[in-house]
Amino acid sequence: MKIIEGVAEMRRLSSSLRREDKTVVLVPTMGYLHAGHSELLRRGRALGDALVLSLFVNPAQFGPSEDFSAYPRDLPRDLKVAEENGVDAVFTPGAQDIYPQGYGTYVTVEGLSEKLCGQARPGHFMGVATVVLKLFNIVMPHKALFGRKDYQQLLVIKKMAGDLNLAIEIIGVDTVREADGLPLSSRNSYLSPKERKAASVIPLSLREAAEAFRGGLKDSRAIIDKVKKIIEKEPVCRVEYVKVTDPETLGDVESAVEGSLLSVAVRVGRARLIDNATL
Ligand code: PAJ
Repeated sequence: MKIIEGVAEMRRLSSSLRREDKTVVLVPTMGYLHAGHSELLRRGRALGDALVLSLFVNPAQFGPSEDFSAYPRDLPRDLKVAEENGVDAVFTPGAQDIYPQGYGTYVTVEGLSEKLCGQARPGHFMGVATVVLKLFNIVMPHKALFGRKDYQQLLVIKKMAGDLNLAIEIIGVDTVREADGLPLSSRNSYLSPKERKAASVIPLSLREAAEAFRGGLKDSRAIIDKVKKIIEKEPVCRVEYVKVTDPETLGDVESAVEGSLLSVAVRVGRARLIDNATL
């Protein structure tokens, strides 16, 4: 397994792989890998010849009062997980490699970026789209994988790839969950044991709402209230939003239909957790 820090070296490797007609697959991450990331790697491994994992905690997608400096990091462990999952090359650039002095170009995906998490995190999806496009230009993959846990992110990347005519196939991967249903997330490490236990109301609320939907509850207001009530039973959980939207535009819908997206963002202690379900 190669470990590459430099942009030029990464491009050299990818160029030579492409010259040999190898299919290059990229899994972009911010590290502190867990079983959700491993699932992306496992799927990616089967989709091409050369599997590249990027590890980069992207300052551009964190707001000024967010957790950029506290974001968990463990490179030695990440390298071990990468090795175990058959990664061929780990790209781990420094902040200076990606945003050198005087950097000034950003990608805005209009519309989608302002919905859901975009409300509480202005600029977040601009930071995501920018770094992902840069990673695409450096690694030059044929395919790239993203988790449905971050459903809005997946949509933003797909939209960017379409709008900018990128010759990269964007592949979504289902959410990997803990035994109680909580999605695996690097930010779960912020939770105290008590908060971790309480957080299980988040997936529970989505399951119960989906069940009620199947039982005939279609009014979005009523579905949202149901989800909020379940989550708010845990005093350590503070609901940031609960929304029922169109799965493509992320616009609110008054009445849920099959395929509508139910998404939540909840603050638990100092963690901000997100989850979603397709009704
Ligand atoms: P990060 O949070 O490290 O996640 C990397 C990838 O793993 C994303 O595509 C995310 O959706 C996926 N993922 C995370 N938890 C998952 C789970 N429980 N099940 C399935 N997939 C999961 O998302 C980012 O990093 C960054 O925004 C990035 C795209 C790397 C740009 O900086």
